[in-house]
Amino acid sequence: MAYLNDHYLKLQAGYLFPEIARRVREFCDANPEAAKRLIRCGIGDVTEPLPPAVIAAMHHAVDELSVRETFRGYGHEQGLESLRERITEHDYRARGIEIAPDEIFISEGSKSDCGYILDILGDRNRIAITDPVYPVYVDTNVMVGHTGPAGEAGRYEGITYLPCRPANDFVPELPSEQVDIIYLCFPNNPTGAVASREQLSGWVEYAREHESIILFDAAYEAYISDPAIPHSIYEIPGALECAVEFRSFSKNGGFTGVRCGFTVMPKTLMARASDGRKLPLHSLWHRRWSTKANSVSYPVQRGAEAIYTDAGQEQVRQLIDHYMGNARILREAVEGAGLKVYGGVNAPYIWVETPSGLTSWQMFDRMLNELNVVITPGSGFGACGEGFFRISAFNSRENAEEVGRRLAKL
Ligand code: MLT
Repeated sequence: MAYLNDHYLKLQAGYLFPEIARRVREFCDANPEAAKRLIRCGIGDVTEPLPPAVIAAMHHAVDELSVRETFRGYGHEQGLESLRERITEHDYRARGIEIAPDEIFISEGSKSDCGYILDILGDRNRIAITDPVYPVYVDTNVMVGHTGPAGEAGRYEGITYLPCRPANDFVPELPSEQVDIIYLCFPNNPTGAVASREQLSGWVEYAREHESIILFDAAYEAYISDPAIPHSIYEIPGALECAVEFRSFSKNGGFTGVRCGFTVMPKTLMARASDGRKLPLHSLWHRRWSTKANSVSYPVQRGAEAIYTDAGQEQVRQLIDHYMGNARILREAVEGAGLKVYGGVNAPYIWVETPSGLTSWQMFDRMLNELNVVITPGSGFGACGEGFFRISAFNSRENAEEVGRRLAKL
């Protein structure tokens, strides 16, 4: 008899986005006419084609693979050196941060890395997670047995939830208890909030004082428009000793379907073994990668590298301007409809209070049935998301404008 991983049985319902897709499918089957005018502003999936610089680089890489002289097999387990050099130069050195190329690990995306990282962290860490939150952080901890069962409001025993509400501008207060692993995501998915230098400094100070590790998800950093907001946790002095950073090419280069991102694992980041020794995590992470994977497809990495060329940067800028133009249209439409709105300024997500005391899922149904627009119910991101819904700005301009017009009818 083979046994399964019982921790999976603690997971509640399906993963949020497939669950939304299922409900939308049911609606479309029952309402074929309405289905024709359906606009999806639910999952944060890009809609615009890849930047031409990326396409050209990927084509070129495929051509290289097609002849013996330039063919390549397995690559470096941490990813192409030239890509890692570009990253350190552009994303870090240009901001005064010293990260070495061998502290960068290219992966198939930050979602995966947010789960994989648990391979090298111990079982007795106290995990702190913001609420609302990108569900991957919670579910991956449930899967490996870091939590008890879910209780009231879907919260799992053993996790410290850090409430994010309008009162704290959706940036959590420091916990009063000891927590060991802290997930932070800024610009935030789902609330669209950003954390100031002072707020992030508070977290770095907490982590250093408590020997905790911050897992910093910066997947949306390219959307920051306010020059005072840090793009990387490493802009905060001391963060190289207490933080891992996850980055993605999904939302800047439009790689949601291509899949590529990276993790920064500083060599100065330490954690304790059960016998009390303080050891660097870098060698464990390298061991994990070289054992379980062979990095990312060569053409994909060449495509990611092209993002860092002058042309690539300009094209990415245009993509971001496009999505943030949508965000402005949607934000104004929601405000015009008399609803309270947050986010959408330094992030492609608009976080809205539901009207007249509706629950998040009731609002989801209302938007679907009355406006034929798919949004994401805030409660899907955690108990503190109840009473909110998220609108994604990832769409064509035409669709964003049409959603704006429909919102006026709310
Ligand atoms: C979202 O809609 O929250 C994102 O698409 C999630 C992701 O990037 O995996």
